[in-house]
Amino acid sequence: PQTPAVKNEPISEFRPGSAETLSLQSTMDHMAAQQADIPCFIGGQEVRTGQVENVVMPHDHSHVLGQAHVGGHQELNQAADAAIKAQKDWAALPWQSRAAVFLKAADLLAGPYRNIINAATMHGQSKNCFQAEIDAACELIDFLRFNAYFYQQIMEQQPVSSPGVWNQLDWRPLEGFVMAITPFNFTAIAGNLPATPAMLGNVVVWKPSGTQMLSAYIIMQVFKEAGLPDGVINMVAADGPVAGAALLPRPDLAGVHFTGSTPTFQHIFAEVGGNIGRYHSYPRLVGETGGKDFVFAHESANPIAVATALARGAFEYQGQKCSAASRAYIPSAIWPEVKAQLVEDVKSFKMGSTRDFGNFINAVIDERSFDKIKSYVDFASNAADAEIVVGGVCDKSEGYFVEPTVIVTSNPQFKTMQEEIFGPVLTIYVYAEADFEDTLELCDQGSIYALTGAIFAQDRFMINHMADRLRNAAGNFYINDKPTGAVVGQQPFGGGRASGTNDKAGSALNLYRWLSPRTIKETF
Ligand code: NAD
Ligand code: ALA
Repeated sequence: PQTPAVKNEPISEFRPGSAETLSLQSTMDHMAAQQADIPCFIGGQEVRTGQVENVVMPHDHSHVLGQAHVGGHQELNQAADAAIKAQKDWAALPWQSRAAVFLKAADLLAGPYRNIINAATMHGQSKNCFQAEIDAACELIDFLRFNAYFYQQIMEQQPVSSPGVWNQLDWRPLEGFVMAITPFNFTAIAGNLPATPAMLGNVVVWKPSGTQMLSAYIIMQVFKEAGLPDGVINMVAADGPVAGAALLPRPDLAGVHFTGSTPTFQHIFAEVGGNIGRYHSYPRLVGETGGKDFVFAHESANPIAVATALARGAFEYQGQKCSAASRAYIPSAIWPEVKAQLVEDVKSFKMGSTRDFGNFINAVIDERSFDKIKSYVDFASNAADAEIVVGGVCDKSEGYFVEPTVIVTSNPQFKTMQEEIFGPVLTIYVYAEADFEDTLELCDQGSIYALTGAIFAQDRFMINHMADRLRNAAGNFYINDKPTGAVVGQQPFGGGRASGTNDKAGSALNLYRWLSPRTIKETF
């Protein structure tokens, strides 16, 4: 049987005064007036630990949206035990039955839960309506639907047989539980990381980010309503290091599905490595991590296209995308035009609450992040070899607001050209055309990361040359386009070097990591 035909979920436009805009605003107002009491989910039960943390709006941090119950070693281990208990029955279901649960979850998100998941992402993670829609609604729906389609394709992959011999691949899930550890910045990733291994017959303990709890709660409600059996996905809000210390050394750890920062994944990798003799089987480690994503323009590039890509690519969701453009190499010949357009675009961005759909820029996620971003902005404003050409104001009095900031430096190895800031800060190095080849080398070697990158040129020979020269500098490579906005099924996503294991979310490649095929040979 074929899975339902897949196509990417259409994106709502939220025109001012439209029915969809008014309906989402009404859901937002209702949600903002409530206090969510967010439990852990263990073995299908809602568990309230009594140890709670406030969930607040980043753009209005005095506004408390609810409390999340936080688990410790005990709840985390109960969650892993519940997962193991659920494993046999879940894995024994026909694959279509498991896929059906997540296809139903996708339909719920596309229908009755669409406004709710968008509102939770807008309030809790400070995404504007468009950024919430492409993430929490469309990308998550796409992940769930496309995964069922990829799963079917995988199941159909069978080896060659011959008369008298029948060879088969039995696409088994992993033995043990998978730990899904998710970041704050994409609701879609938060839902996909537990859902993908689970659809394939695995059982999961999901540790969401403490600053994404409102949308995490909605995702769990959707999975439950879609008929996910008890214990298949268990969600425990917990301090990251506590969760790691409790679950990573367990002998029944089958894998870690992680997205987050490079240092956190390196810690997890080392922890698993240090325990390697304890496990029943080698844990699968999938980690999509940090980025320092580039835009590199050739002198044949269209300057307006470059400026637009920089403005959108660097400042959508306040630069808090792993894929965000954060360093750029622009030739001096087109720099005046690029600069004029970029500064004009950035100055046109309105900043404020997510409740006003006209605001393009909202707040950064929390105080720790605000302080880190501000320290980079302060560093640049005091440096002799850098200049802030637009932005630079940071204010956390009501919300964690950082103006979109463009730094121009004469030093291609300037600190903000190399380190992941994860905020609305773009650094530009203007190069002399004679230094083109050296600057390409700097771009390739300029940071430890290799997640996304974009080149701009109209000269076809140059496009090929740059793509070849920067072959290992990005896992997602864009030609004459911004480096953000990969679409499930269209641009499989992931990077190399310090940016991750490159297991390509949004494609079948990721699914293989959660399967451990058994080869069966039967002789007649
Ligand atoms: P983070 O590393 O701070 O946290 C990620 C998750 O890890 C959280 O749930 C956190 O609680 C948990 N964690 C922290 N310490 C842990 C430990 N010792 N053991 C187990 N879990 C632990 O990242 P973040 O700030 O939530 O997200 C931003 C980062 O994620 C950026 O670096 C960004 O580039 C990256 N990111 C990468 C991709 C990608 O696809 N490559 C996508 C989104 C975000
Ligand atoms: N899928 C996200 C993007 O490409 C991370 O921006």
